[in-house]
Amino acid sequence: MDHVLLLLLWTSEPVRLVGGDSYCAGTLEMKHKGEWRPVDGFRWTMKEAAVVCRVLDCGSAVSIGQKRISSILSVWGIRSNCVRTGSALRECVTSSHSTLTLNFVCLDSVRLLNGTGPCSGRLEVRSNQSNQGWSSVCEADFDQQDAEVVCRELGCGAPSALQGALYGEVEAPFWSEEFMCGGHESALLDCRSSDLARTTCSPGKAVGLTCSESEGFRLVGGDTHCAGRLELKHEGDCRSMDGSYWTLKIAAVVCTELDCGSAISTVQREESSERLTWGINSNCVHSGSAVRDCVSPSYSSFYLDLTCSDSFRLLNGTGLCSGRLEVRSNQSNQRWFSVCEADFDQQDAEVVCRELGCGAPTALQGALYGEVEAPVWSRDFQCGGNESALLDCRSSDSARTTCSPGKAVGLTCSEPVRLVGGDSRCAGKLELKHEGEWRPVGGFRWTLKEAAVICRELDCGSAVSIQECEESSERLVWGIDSDCLLSGFGLRECVTFHELYTFIQNLTCSDSVRLLNGTKLCSGRLEVKSNQFNHFNQWWSSVCEADFDQQDAEVVCRELGCGAPSALQGALYGEVEAPLWSKEFQCGGNESALLDCRSSGSARTTCSPGKAVGLTCSEPIRLVGGDTRCAGRLELKHEGEWRPVDEFDWTLKDAAVVCRELDCGSAVSILQTQESSEIPVFWINSQCLQSGFALRECVMSSTNDYEIFSGILNIICTDLLLQPVISVDGVSHVGQQGSQVVKGFSFTISCSIHPQYPGGFFQLIFTSSFSNAEHNYTQPAVNHSARFLFHAAEPTHQGNYTCVYQVYVFSLNFSSESQRLSVSVSDPTVFFLKVVALPLTLLLLSAALYMYYKATRGQMFNRQEDTELVNYPLGVGAAEEEGDVLGVHLTSGEI
Ligand SMILES: *[C@@H]1O[C@H](CO)[C@@H](O)[C@H](O)[C@H]1NC(C)=O
Ligand SMILES: *[C@@H]1O[C@H](CO)[C@@H](O)[C@H](O)[C@H]1NC(C)=O
Ligand SMILES: *[C@@H]1O[C@H](CO)[C@@H](O)[C@H](O)[C@H]1NC(C)=O
Ligand SMILES: *[C@@H]1O[C@H](CO)[C@@H](O)[C@H](O)[C@H]1NC(C)=O
Ligand SMILES: *[C@@H]1O[C@H](CO)[C@@H](O)[C@H](O)[C@H]1NC(C)=O
Ligand SMILES: *[C@@H]1O[C@H](CO)[C@@H](O)[C@H](O)[C@H]1NC(C)=O
Ligand SMILES: *[C@@H]1O[C@H](CO)[C@@H](O)[C@H](O)[C@H]1NC(C)=O
Ligand SMILES: *[C@@H]1O[C@H](CO)[C@@H](O)[C@H](O)[C@H]1NC(C)=O
Ligand SMILES: *[C@@H]1O[C@H](CO)[C@@H](O)[C@H](O)[C@H]1NC(C)=O
Repeated sequence: MDHVLLLLLWTSEPVRLVGGDSYCAGTLEMKHKGEWRPVDGFRWTMKEAAVVCRVLDCGSAVSIGQKRISSILSVWGIRSNCVRTGSALRECVTSSHSTLTLNFVCLDSVRLLNGTGPCSGRLEVRSNQSNQGWSSVCEADFDQQDAEVVCRELGCGAPSALQGALYGEVEAPFWSEEFMCGGHESALLDCRSSDLARTTCSPGKAVGLTCSESEGFRLVGGDTHCAGRLELKHEGDCRSMDGSYWTLKIAAVVCTELDCGSAISTVQREESSERLTWGINSNCVHSGSAVRDCVSPSYSSFYLDLTCSDSFRLLNGTGLCSGRLEVRSNQSNQRWFSVCEADFDQQDAEVVCRELGCGAPTALQGALYGEVEAPVWSRDFQCGGNESALLDCRSSDSARTTCSPGKAVGLTCSEPVRLVGGDSRCAGKLELKHEGEWRPVGGFRWTLKEAAVICRELDCGSAVSIQECEESSERLVWGIDSDCLLSGFGLRECVTFHELYTFIQNLTCSDSVRLLNGTKLCSGRLEVKSNQFNHFNQWWSSVCEADFDQQDAEVVCRELGCGAPSALQGALYGEVEAPLWSKEFQCGGNESALLDCRSSGSARTTCSPGKAVGLTCSEPIRLVGGDTRCAGRLELKHEGEWRPVDEFDWTLKDAAVVCRELDCGSAVSILQTQESSEIPVFWINSQCLQSGFALRECVMSSTNDYEIFSGILNIICTDLLLQPVISVDGVSHVGQQGSQVVKGFSFTISCSIHPQYPGGFFQLIFTSSFSNAEHNYTQPAVNHSARFLFHAAEPTHQGNYTCVYQVYVFSLNFSSESQRLSVSVSDPTVFFLKVVALPLTLLLLSAALYMYYKATRGQMFNRQEDTELVNYPLGVGAAEEEGDVLGVHLTSGEI
């Protein structure tokens, strides 16, 4: 099985290593579009290397190196984050040019499978003599010395665990010899071994092995081991880390690995010349992989100066500016202590927050971020508030050795973020304090998703708009890794470094309303912020269903920049215990903000469970210029303005989001049209859209309103036709069972549709309640309608009728179905019908209609309606005649 599978992988992934000692080492090449080319060496990590080694059926990956070539080559690029999410290599290929190629070494005889990283897993061995594949090793045939050899061969540290079934169990073949390594061999297959002829092994005995990581980070040239230039020993080579792309989020991981405290700063420094360094793939770390797995060789002239705190850390918080406080001193034997609530006050908190580089403290409380058993710091801090480090503060011996449960200090500092120059603290240009400096935040084409992170950090409600403002000249700004932000980290965690830039992010958050816990920015549980003057006295309250109606919802949706409300209901997005708003809103519907509406004191302090208002606003999008709302030019309302959308990079998948949102079925095509003059458009980040976010959330902030790249986007959705209308003439009675026609008399079923597209045809689909059989009749649409005449109603005509309109437009077939019409056939008493009613009716009607016919003939003979009315009561042979004229494929005998 395994071999078959591997063979399939091999054939489906056309990669090879060339120029090495075996087929498991050399320069990586890939065949794509029929052409073998080297693979671009940019930002490959051991994770992707492991995939290649597996695909080649080689052993574990031991190293990757970059080879610089003198001229630019045509290469295949492989997007590493695509590979990392489990896609096949060939799905991740792009065409590229590079001066870097990749050198791989995979082992050919040893591998670890199913482990947590490259240094752990279930051991498998293969010999180059036999034609066999990989075999597991039985615990009884493998000891500590053997493990040492394997760990060394893999380039890992000493073995730390060795046990049967540690990384899963297998049925696979077992290695048939007992290894007898001395411990100093460089490869497992170089060891002596004794023939055992073992072919089975008890369950739970396949060797699983964990080697320690021999490598690691260190900081050199600083005052303590927690500050300095960052170096990494990796694959046996100790090199500086490339300072590009670092964020504090990654730094925090490294600080923890170094047993230092919180991450304080990362500074990128430049050297005069380029050299070989270790680069970091930041996307890889932000998506949760270990830093070590995200390292790749890189040529760079930048290195990183990292400062971690030596003496304190915040643990288990929601970001870098919050957590449970722990301190240590150089006297305390490098042990960390928690701090008792009683020994720590607001001034002390100010010092810690400042030392961290965060904003002012906002919360300070025992057990805020969990509880611990850890030893407790034995001194009472007595900071003045202006000290630059906690351990510089005066302190008095508190002789405390224990602290009541629930009293270990948890601390929240505000994020050092502000909006300046707007009408309120919730609008304006974004600034961040980092490394002690307030600077604007740059950033290229952010979306509302990024803005939402900032609004949340500022406790400001929902994100309403984001724009780039152009400054008159270049300024130093903080650069932000927006993937980091979108992975859920805070602004400060995602700062990269400062750069010169002319565009500044300008954003607006709704100040006093927000929707929480929804699936999109335009939905969620409604909360309103009390409008106290002091921002620190504000809090958010839910709203009770009874105090909020449709008009109020319209105001909220407008205030948030969303479309009209589409759902409004208690507990739609979860329930809360939270405080409730104590007034009933009485909006007229035209106010621009909810808190501008009139309200009456409802003096409500409670609300029945399940009654907290949840609200869904529609997305502010429309298709215009087509004949229906389901086809046309896509327009989006953003920042109060409707604009078309640029077609660049759109796929049908993106268009499907639009059709679904408009309740128009699925997407059938996208077209682009050109405008004769430049008009303002919006650009959409399609990667954002494909991650499941709403269109509005994925509009990119841009300064250049008039930039049209590919043309204006037009979308056609499947449900572009309106619903046809079905009706019946010749009805004697309309009851609960539907329309009733009289047996023996003719009746006509009409199908019509609101004029949208010329041509097309109608199908009348009839399901007989007698036989349950389905019949269908077809007629071309004339003036957007068609009539189906049945000349003598029979009980077999009883059943359900539906009109289906079909038309070929935009090179595609579309159809739309009417509602169902139920027809029953009544059977009047034979006597009444035959002896009295029928002759009499016939006589009277014949006379009347003769006159009528005579009078209107000439003016009206083009109108089928009248022709049929004449024929109706006479009931003579009309169906056949009309059938020919109108194309009804029906005779009374047929059904
Ligand atoms: C098989 O492996 C041994 C060392 O394990 C090596 O010396 C020998 O050259 C290899 N043979 C082939 C055909 O690769
Ligand atoms: C991999 O390991 C997990 C537990 O870590 C185990 O559940 C799983 O069965 C293992 N897979 C294989 C193929 O052994
Ligand atoms: C220990 O810490 C004190 C200040 O807390 C400092 O003055 C001293 O230099 C430190 N000693 C060492 C060896 O780092
Ligand atoms: C971390 O915090 C969570 C709650 O936020 C708590 O459940 C967990 O126990 C904490 N972990 C530690 C180690 O305190
Ligand atoms: C703290 O520093 C500020 C400005 O540097 C100063 O105005 C204030 O008086 C200082 N407070 C204390 C308690 O030293
Ligand atoms: C920032 O954005 C708001 C909202 O769109 C706008 O009213 C304001 O003029 C912008 N500020 C600048 C400086 O462009
Ligand atoms: C958020 O919504 C989910 C269901 O969508 C619900 O289970 C959860 O309780 C909600 N959270 C809150 C805080 O209401
Ligand atoms: C006709 O439609 C009604 C519902 O409108 C349904 O109950 C009935 O079964 C249908 N009859 C046939 C023959 O499909
Ligand atoms: C109508 O009948 C034609 C052929 O008799 C068939 O191909 C078609 O699918 C039918 N249409 C419907 C809607 O049943």
